[in-house]
Amino acid sequence: MSFPKQRSGSRCRVCGGPVSEFFDFGRQPLSDAFHEQPPADELFFRLAVGNCSWCTMVQLMEEVPRDRMFHAGYPYLSSGSAVMRDHFGKVAGRFLETELTGPNPFVVELGCNDGVMLRTIAEAGVRHLGVEPSGGVADLAAAKGVRVRKSFFEEQVATEILAQDGPADVIYAANTLCHIPYLGSILRGVDALLAPDGVFVFEDPYFSDIVERASFDQIYDEHFYLFTVRSVQAAARPYGLELVDVERLPVHGGEVRYTLARAGGRRLAPAVAELLAEEHERRLTEAETLAGFGSRVEGIRERLVTLLRELKAKGKRVAGYGATAKSATVLNYCGIGPDLIPYITDTTKAKQGTKTPGSHIPVLGPEAFRDPYPDYAVLFAWNHAAEIMEKEVGFAGVGGEWITYVPDVRVV
Ligand code: SAH
Ligand code: TYD
Ligand code: ZN
Repeated sequence: MSFPKQRSGSRCRVCGGPVSEFFDFGRQPLSDAFHEQPPADELFFRLAVGNCSWCTMVQLMEEVPRDRMFHAGYPYLSSGSAVMRDHFGKVAGRFLETELTGPNPFVVELGCNDGVMLRTIAEAGVRHLGVEPSGGVADLAAAKGVRVRKSFFEEQVATEILAQDGPADVIYAANTLCHIPYLGSILRGVDALLAPDGVFVFEDPYFSDIVERASFDQIYDEHFYLFTVRSVQAAARPYGLELVDVERLPVHGGEVRYTLARAGGRRLAPAVAELLAEEHERRLTEAETLAGFGSRVEGIRERLVTLLRELKAKGKRVAGYGATAKSATVLNYCGIGPDLIPYITDTTKAKQGTKTPGSHIPVLGPEAFRDPYPDYAVLFAWNHAAEIMEKEVGFAGVGGEWITYVPDVRVV
């Protein structure tokens, strides 16, 4: 079944300019739709990506309705990685030391998920609100003492929060803004809710890192935008918001943390101009670069499928590690099913006992990985490689080998 609600035409979701498609991954399921028994009418859409010739924003060509992705059963848990728990603990600590030092400060987080960041703010007794539409993860945040509102953040919600709680000193969003096609409504909401000298800080996968590492699996239904410094700056300007700082982050395979403030309100950090110049130098969103990205992705598909077929022919046992949202793009684009990867292990309880979207590979708990170890493991959670390889030293100890596919297919 093809997806019913498709974006008409190919106008930019941010500025209305023309969008040219540069890569088509074909028919793809919703990346976090894990089902015990995949329904006969499992939803699929066409996953293709393009860039705007006016504002350069890289975006999906088709938009999946938000309530099909983010609902009570949304399975992603932000606290599933020790490295990410540490990362968000530090984010909270930094806000507490810098932006939240005035009288009775207030911080709002969009997409607080299970409370991985706000729990530290709550423990510090600082006024806060998490806005989280996915009911299950919102309940987990509430259980940690986080104050949560179960809604999609948008302009109307921002004005309601303002009426109830007053202006926010910090509005923060991690791996959430890129999930939201209706960016105009978000930025109007931020404009309404932000204190005059407040900051809007968000961090998301950086398109420059995606191109450099050919990490094509960062492209899936939920990742509607793939930001660059240039496109974020252009998107913010019409709403009176200025990009005042950028910071590269090592998490999730390379991200940028963007800091926006009201235009003219804060000193511009030199890092903004530096990273803009670097993007320009790399010709990041020019047709040649994007075509080169596409060719690399096709090469990876070819080599990954060939390797898995060879291993199967040799009778080797292959497992997948991490039933990530990203893996949906890899598995469905490469046409990999249980014949080549019989199971994937994942620590998320809600994913265990289900089958992966579209590719229908059984997801098992982490104990299945050790009992017995496979010969090879495809590392779908490659962004957590250091943490996972350290935890799974026993696998390498018995001669097990990891297979990674970005920036290229490698056996390590
Ligand atoms: N901040 C967390 C969660 C990222 S997952 C982290 O970095 O790990 C993205 C989250 O955004 C999901 O929990 C989803 O429910 C939420 N989300 C999606 N649309 C949203 C919106 N309009 N407003 C607030 N949260 C949203
Ligand atoms: P992640 O790569 O963070 O995000 P996405 O789903 O958006 O691609 O997901 C990591 C997945 O890997 C998550 O389902 C939990 C799982 N995981 C493990 O199974 N073991 C681990 O040690 C870690 C860190 C994650
Ligand atoms: Zn545009």
